[in-house]
Amino acid sequence: MLEQKTARYERIQRQLRELMVKSEHALSRMATINALLYHKMDGFFWVGFYLLHDGKLLVGPYQGPLACLELPRDKGVCWAAINRRTSVVVPDVDNFPGHIACDSRSKSEIVIPVRDKGNNIIGVLDIDSNLKNNFDQADAGQLEKIVAMLYA
Ligand code: SME
Repeated sequence: MLEQKTARYERIQRQLRELMVKSEHALSRMATINALLYHKMDGFFWVGFYLLHDGKLLVGPYQGPLACLELPRDKGVCWAAINRRTSVVVPDVDNFPGHIACDSRSKSEIVIPVRDKGNNIIGVLDIDSNLKNNFDQADAGQLEKIVAMLYA
């Protein structure tokens, strides 16, 4: 990963650590994470959470263009991250069978599972880029640290 990108993640993480103490509620923390990532990271075209509810994945807080309200079960990148219980990096969405295109401008994507205090997966952080190859495993590692702040 570019040094500049790493430095940016680290700055955002420092800022988030200060902000998270201002509310213990996951919803407020999600909205805050979205705002920082969307506005501070290059090529982050859509940043948001999809949350499990009655076996469905429903859109939660997000920043960016209008997105799908519900994701059909076991299809697409978000459900893959839930079912595999791990982060999923998609360098080119056209090469991911079943990818759900909420907006045709999205070219690459990363999805990070969100775990609550009991280690249950309650949803995902989903980030789309308008650039191909905008995410790799280093992004996954940085974003996992950010998602871990939600229920810390
Ligand atoms: N592409 C996702 C759907 C959500 S949008 O990217 C905002 C997927 O395949 O699960």
